Amino acid sequence: MGPRVLVIGKSGQVATALTERAEARDIPAMCIGRPEVDIATMDALPDEAIAFAPTIVVNAAAYTAVDKAEDEEDAAFAVNDAGAGRVAAAAAKLGVPVIHISTDYVYDGAKPEPYVETDPPCPLGVYGRSKLAGEEAVAQAADRHVILRTAWVFSPFGRNFVKTMLALAETRDRLKIVDDQRGSPTYALDLADAILTIAERIAETGWQQRYQGVFHAANAGETTWRGLAHKAFAASAALGGPTAAADPIPTSDYPTAAERPLNSRLDCGRLKATFGIALPDWWVGVRDCVGRLVTTHEKQETP
Ligand SMILES: NC(=O)c1ccc[n+]([C@@H]2O[C@H](COP(=O)([O-])OP(=O)(O)OC[C@H]3O[C@@H](n4cnc5c(N)ncnc54)[C@H](OP(=O)(O)O)[C@@H]3O)[C@@H](O)[C@H]2O)c1
Repeated sequence: MGPRVLVIGKSGQVATALTERAEARDIPAMCIGRPEVDIATMDALPDEAIAFAPTIVVNAAAYTAVDKAEDEEDAAFAVNDAGAGRVAAAAAKLGVPVIHISTDYVYDGAKPEPYVETDPPCPLGVYGRSKLAGEEAVAQAADRHVILRTAWVFSPFGRNFVKTMLALAETRDRLKIVDDQRGSPTYALDLADAILTIAERIAETGWQQRYQGVFHAANAGETTWRGLAHKAFAASAALGGPTAAADPIPTSDYPTAAERPLNSRLDCGRLKATFGIALPDWWVGVRDCVGRLVTTHEKQETP
């Protein structure tokens, strides 16, 4: 029997991507989220979610405002720590596993090489600390848990770096972009496919102890924020969309409330070894994402 996927967090990038990919793959999925379900306060899953009879719960809801979190520690922890624990407890009560999404910002970036899951986390800011606390809350609440640390998520949906860059290129010819933070950009649609394949594997094989714990799940390859913007501008220019020159600057020239890791590249070997999943190169996702955004843009511009 195939999986039935209950997704928490219906309007976010990853939740929207899960809805799209589940429909394309004919996997029954139900999304619930605010305003009906607030994970910071919910006591139990709503009746319709229980009636859906999921085989797995995916928590794609999170407080994701990295800089704002520095001033809103309680709000960030209410969702990313306590809320994550509530979702995992609800999955355990239903008797099904939970797939929880976490972040590369649990690392401090001091390691010169890509991170592996056994490297000690050491978050630099409130957001990363709240997500790390959430991982622990999930592990406490649900024995059957898969925690996916992903990174630098972009998509045609919601708010993200690629969309922001294209919007800025509408009015600017040159942009100064940070070029000394290295990471693993991840296309929400590729991540959604990876999540659904994990759900399928678990449905096929039943729960296995080797599925438990933390996995890195990011697109293959690495770049800087400038590298990501440059690729997005090139893809957009090829389609006649907005483009700009991307000039490199150091992090010190772009101060933000929250400190970011200089290196948060993720080694995704455990995901491949355990589930047979390797996400495609990040720039393939950029091309697809920009293609969708520029086409949409053109459609909107045409009277
Ligand atoms: N974005 C990134 O670059 C990035 C990088 C690494 C890891 N991640 C992780 O990936 C996951 C998905 O991120 P994303 O990019 O899809 O985030 P997103 O686009 O910001 O969406 C977050 C979603 O969470 C929902 N949410 C927030 N608080 C909630 C609450 N109390 N109850 C119910 N829903 C709530 C939001 O609902 P509203 O629309 O109502 O606010 C929104 O639908 C998160 O766990 C995030 O930490 C993201």
